[in-house]
Formats: sequence, C-alpha cells, structure tokens
Amino acid sequence: MSALSSLHLVGSSGRLQRFMHQLPTAVLLVNQAGSIVEVNEQLLRVTGYSRDQLVNTPISSLLPHRGSMEHLYEEYLRKEEVGTKGEVELEWCDKQGRCRNTSVMIMAQQAEELLYMIHFPQLVKESDQLLSQRLLTKLTYDTSMGLFILDEKSIIIEASQTACKLLGMERLDVINKHVDQVFSGIPEPHRFIKKELLEGVKLQNVATSWTNDNQRYELIVDANTLQDESGKIVGAFILFKDITNLRSFAQKLERNERLAMIGQIAAGTAHEIRNPLTSIKGFLQMFLKSFGDSGMEREKTYTEIMLTEINRINSLVSEFLLLSKPRNIQYSMVDLNTVFEEILPIVESQANLYGIDVQFASRGKLPMVVGDNELLKQVFINICKNGIEAMGEQGSLRISHHFDQDGDKVSIDIHDSGPGIPLYIIDKIFDPFFTTKEEGTGLGLSVCQKIIHDIGGQIRVSSKGFGTTFHIMLPY
Ligand SMILES: Nc1ncnc2c1ncn2[C@@H]1O[C@H](COP(=O)(O)OP(=O)(O)OP(=O)(O)O)[C@@H](O)[C@H]1O
Ligand SMILES: [Mg+2]
Repeated sequence: MSALSSLHLVGSSGRLQRFMHQLPTAVLLVNQAGSIVEVNEQLLRVTGYSRDQLVNTPISSLLPHRGSMEHLYEEYLRKEEVGTKGEVELEWCDKQGRCRNTSVMIMAQQAEELLYMIHFPQLVKESDQLLSQRLLTKLTYDTSMGLFILDEKSIIIEASQTACKLLGMERLDVINKHVDQVFSGIPEPHRFIKKELLEGVKLQNVATSWTNDNQRYELIVDANTLQDESGKIVGAFILFKDITNLRSFAQKLERNERLAMIGQIAAGTAHEIRNPLTSIKGFLQMFLKSFGDSGMEREKTYTEIMLTEINRINSLVSEFLLLSKPRNIQYSMVDLNTVFEEILPIVESQANLYGIDVQFASRGKLPMVVGDNELLKQVFINICKNGIEAMGEQGSLRISHHFDQDGDKVSIDIHDSGPGIPLYIIDKIFDPFFTTKEEGTGLGLSVCQKIIHDIGGQIRVSSKGFGTTFHIMLPY
C-alpha cells in the first residue's frame, strides 16, 4: 500500500504555514518535488540559514538524504513502526556544514498540493536552553559583570565570580544560602542585596560603593524581580558593573581641576594679601618697640599677639602659594638622612608635650633623592604633626623606611598609634580644606601630596581599625 493512501488530513497551505510559525520548535514544509516551501523562525535560528537561502531550494541542502521526499517519508513510517517509543532520528546539517542526528516527526498533509511537514521536536528547545545557559555561564564565570539571582525565598541560587570576589567569599559558600545569612555581620544599610527586592524594589543605574576587608568597589547596580507567566514574583536578580577604576579616574580629574582652580585663586590673591600684611607688620613692630620703651606692658602684649596672628596668616598664604600651579622648586640632591636629623628634634619636642614616644627605625643609610630640601622637610613635619594631633595624649610615632623590590624607590613609612581614619573620610583627606579639626586649615596633606607628586613620588595612606600609616615613596 502506498504511504499516500494513508493520508487523511486535508487543509490549505496558508493554515498550515500559520500553524508552523506558532510552534516553538523547528519545522519546515517540503513539497513532493523535494523543494522547501516554508520554514519557521526556530528552524532558521538552529540552522543558521536565512529564509531566502532555504525557501525554494532543494531539501538536500538541509537533509543530506538520498532519494525523493516520498521515499524519505516511507522510510520514516517504516522506522516509526519498528522503532522503540516511535522515535525516528534523521541527520540534518546546518549552514556551517556541521551535521547531527535528531529525532524527527514527518507528516504528510494534503493542502493545495501534497506537503510534508518535517518537525524537529527537540531541536529548538535544546538550542534555546543552550543559548541562555551559555549566557548564564558567561555572566557567571567570564565577564566583569556581577550577578546574583535569588529565588522567591531570598535564597541566592546563582552568584557570578565577580560577585563573589566582591563579597570576598567563595562561590560555594554563597550558593543556596539565604541573603541574610551571606550578609550577616554587614549593617543593614550597606547590604546591596536585600530580600526586599522580592517586594518589587527596582534599581536602575544606581551608583553605590561597597567595601570588603581588602578593597573598596564602586558599582553601578541594576536589580529587578523575575515573574512567571501569571505575573507572580518568583525571584529577583541583581546585575552590577565594577566601575572603580572609572570612578577614581573621574575623581582624580575632578580633584586636579579643583586644585588648578585653587591654585589660580591662590596665585592671584596671595600677593595682594601679603603686601598690605608686610606694612601692617612693619608698623606693629614699631608699636611694639615704643610700647616696650614706654612701659605699656598691656599694649605690648596685645601687639605681640597681633604679630603672631599675622605670622599665621603669612604662613597660610605661603601654603596657598605652594598649591598654585607654576611654582619654582629648588631641585637639588637631597640627603634624606640630613632631612630627618633636622626634623626629628622639632617632631620630638612637639611629641614630648603630649607624652608621645617617637621612634626612628633607621635601618642603614637613606639614599639621596632629587627634590627640594625645605619642602621635603615640610612634608614629613606635616605628617608627623597630624599623627601627633590624632593620638592626643600618649601613643607612639614610628618612622621607618625600606626600599621596594624593583629598587628605584625608597619608601618612608610614618605610623601612628592613633584612632585611625574612618573609612568614609579616607578618600577626602588629601582634598584642600578638608579638615576634622576645629583649628585646622585642611591644607596640610594636600600640600604634602602636591610636593611629593611634583618630584615624581607617591603618597598613600592605610588605616585599618587602629593606627594610621602614611607611605611616602620617592624615586632615587
Ligand atoms: N594620622 C592621622 N590620623 C587620623 N586622622 C588623620 C591623620 N592624618 C590626617 N588625618 C585626617 O585628615 C584630615 C586632613 O589633614 P590635613 O593635614 O590636610 O589637615 P588638618 O591637619 O586638619 O589641618 P592643618 O594641617 O592645617 O592643621 C585631618 O583633619 C584628619 O581628620
Ligand atoms: Mg595637618
């Protein structure tokens, strides 16, 4: 009996085509002559062909089958009868010429003409899953994107490598744990994944920062819920990008601009302030002498105070001038040993006032560096002064030095046993005018940084819990 005689389905090819386009799996229609009549989108996605490349071409480009379509169909029916579970496999090839076997269903349909519908029930499902699986794997292991996926019970079911690095945790210690468990020990406001996400809290391009034990990260965060077909919330995701480098670059740029502006103002006004000060100072010195000569002790004391205050203004203006851009530095070879010999008595005398102990751990001789002798002294004095001020009563100030591995920099560390610098201000301490002291100008560290940068060095601070260390690296 011919296979054709078993046909009992009759319809229009238009209806058939509408039907196949709605299928989530790959389907194609072939006519009796073996020419492809229509393909659906899923088939294109799987094979890599465009519609034009397939429609009206022989089926043999896709199915390397020998013989006619009728023959293929008969073979299919035979195999279906004998095969277990009624499954029949057919070899097909994609555009790249890669061939594989997949189970198929072939149906003959009598429309305007006899058409064969070849259906690959597994093909697309498998491939769709593959793609999203691949994307997930990529997001999880490969990219710099951070990803967390939560289920409806706030259990973390996926966490990318980047996300774990940020948490400072191993992936295995994060997966399948409740959010609160992973974030326990972290104060509520600092948790950027919260179970409230599941209540529909949506975040888009939210800039935030995050600090674990080792490092501070700047992040751009997106978060949203995941819903099922009925709209019920079944989970949530948090996607973020680490933009620490970008942010610190932008901050540096902003800071440089601010410094340049302060510099301009400083250069413009400093001399205008200094000139009248010089004459005021001159007259006050005259008064001081006359008051002294005529025994007017009270007036003499007031004048002395005025002179001290004027000196204070003068030194402030000098610091201002240091921040201004074009400046004459007296570069010469500076012997750091002499620098410390000269500043240690000054530092010690101030430290003694507060019962602070100063240790200078000199391990061998310090090298010569190129710089400005007076300015370098100012840097070290400033930093020591900050340390002493931070410690208040009692404590120890330790100055040590070492050479770094590649051997072209000497690092001088100034450590104090004070209270440390809180994390939320550590980024700001080098900013001009940033101070936490009632009497401070906030210029000390910004001037130090400028001096060190100008001679090609670096200044860094580390402060964890208790104590603060300033590291000054100088090329020699
Ligand atoms: N060793 C330290 N320990 C703790 N905090 C410090 C330390 N060094 C600096 N700081 C913080 O940095 C801020 C800025 O320091 P900076 O030297 O620039 O200005 P200042 O000391 O406040 O003012 P000035 O130097 O004019 O007296 C300080 O106000 C303080 O909060
Ligand atoms: Mg200071």
